[in-house]
Amino acid sequence: MLNQRLDQLQDYPFARLAALIADITPKVNIAPVAMSIGDPQGQPPEFAMKIIADHADKWNGYPPVIGTFELRTAIKTWLDRRYALPRDLIDIETQIAPVAGTREGLFIVAQLAVNGAKNGQKPVALMPNPFYQVYNAAAVMAGAEPVYLTTTEATGFLPDLDAIPEETLQRTALFYLCSPGNPQGAIASIDYIKKALGLARKYDFLLVMDECYAELYYTPEAPQGGLQAALALGPGQDGHPLDNLVCFHTLSKRSSAAGMRSGFGVGSPTTIKLLNRLRSFSCAGQPFPIQAASAALWAEEGHAIATREAYAKRMESARRHLGKLPGFYAPKGGMFLWIEVGDGEDAARKLWRDAAIKVLPGEYLTKPEKDGTNTGKRYIRVALVHEYETCDAALFRMAQVLG
Ligand SMILES: Cc1ncc(COP(=O)(O)O)c(C=O)c1O
Repeated sequence: MLNQRLDQLQDYPFARLAALIADITPKVNIAPVAMSIGDPQGQPPEFAMKIIADHADKWNGYPPVIGTFELRTAIKTWLDRRYALPRDLIDIETQIAPVAGTREGLFIVAQLAVNGAKNGQKPVALMPNPFYQVYNAAAVMAGAEPVYLTTTEATGFLPDLDAIPEETLQRTALFYLCSPGNPQGAIASIDYIKKALGLARKYDFLLVMDECYAELYYTPEAPQGGLQAALALGPGQDGHPLDNLVCFHTLSKRSSAAGMRSGFGVGSPTTIKLLNRLRSFSCAGQPFPIQAASAALWAEEGHAIATREAYAKRMESARRHLGKLPGFYAPKGGMFLWIEVGDGEDAARKLWRDAAIKVLPGEYLTKPEKDGTNTGKRYIRVALVHEYETCDAALFRMAQVLG
C-alpha cells in the first residue's frame, strides 16, 4: 500500500554504525568521542542567540516561506561579498529561497527537476559516490534513477565529467555536486564547475551545487562556486546567467548553528519561483526569530573566520598525529578526514574497542560499483567537529590504534 520507492532507501549510516559496534564495550575508561557525526559541537555566536530571545513575541504568526526582506538582503550582501559578484547578478526579490536547512532544499529540488521522462526515458539524477545521503533519497523519491559517479583519489575525489556516458547525460534531470566535498574535502575548480554547468546547459538539466562547506577551507584562496562559474559562462537558454543552476548554502557549518535549521538556495528567477511554489505547499517558513538571527549571522564575518581557524587548527592536529599513516591526506576543505585504513568496518570496530572513538566506515556512504566493489570500503570518515582539546586527544589515540 505504501510508496515502494521507500524500500530503495538504505539505512542512514549512523544506524548501520550503531549495529556494527553494538556488541563492543570500549576497553578504555575514557569518555567516548563521536567522530562519526556531522554536526559541529561548538555553539553559535551569542549575538545570534540574543536576537532569537529578543524576538520572543514573534512566534504567533506564520512566517513567509520566501523569507523576510531583511534575511534575503543579508544573504544577497553575503553572496556578493563572498563571491565578488556584480551587484545586479542576484535579485533580492526573486532569486533567493531561504530553507529550513539545506537538507530540505536539496531534497525538494529533485521534485522540481525530475519530470516523468527525459527524452522518453527514465530520468537520471547524477551524484558523486560517496555522497551525502539526502541526494540519493531525493532522487529515488522523485522517481529518478540515481547514477553514482565514482570519486577516488585517481579522479581527484571529484566525478570525472568526461567519463559520463552520452546516453546517461541525455537522460539527466539533475546533478548534485558538492564542493568542498563531504566526505573527501575536494574543492572543484572554477573550470571544473564551468564544465559541469556547460553539460547542464547542453543536456538541459539542473546543476545543484551543494556549497554547504564553502566557508570551511584550508587553501590560501576561498573555494570558488557555482555563481562565479555561471557568471563566467554568461546567460543560458532562458537568457539568465544562473540558468540550469541552483546553489545551496547553510549556517550549520559556517556558524556552527545546525540546530537553527537555516540555509538558502540561490538561482535564476524561474528556478527560485518554482522552488518557492513547491515549498509553499510542502515546507514551513523559518520562524521569524530564526530569520532575524540568520540575517545577523550572514552579515557578520568575524565568527565565520574564527570557525574556519578552529577547524584549521584541528586539521593541523590531524596532520601532526596521523600524517605518517600511508592512507592519510590533508583535505582542502570541509570538516572530515577520509583515511584509507585497509578495511573501514574493521578500523571502526577497533577504534571503538581500543580508543572509545566512533568513526564511520566509508562504505556506509558509498554505493557499490557495478562489479560489486565498494570504493569506500578501505576508508573511514572522521569528523573534526569537537573542540580542539577533544579532537587533539582523540587523534592522538587514533594514531596509536591505526599506526
Ligand atoms: C554535504 C552536505 N550537504 C548538506 C548538508 C545539510 O546541512 P543543513 O541541512 O544543516 O543545512 C550536510 C550536513 O551535514 C552535508 O554534509
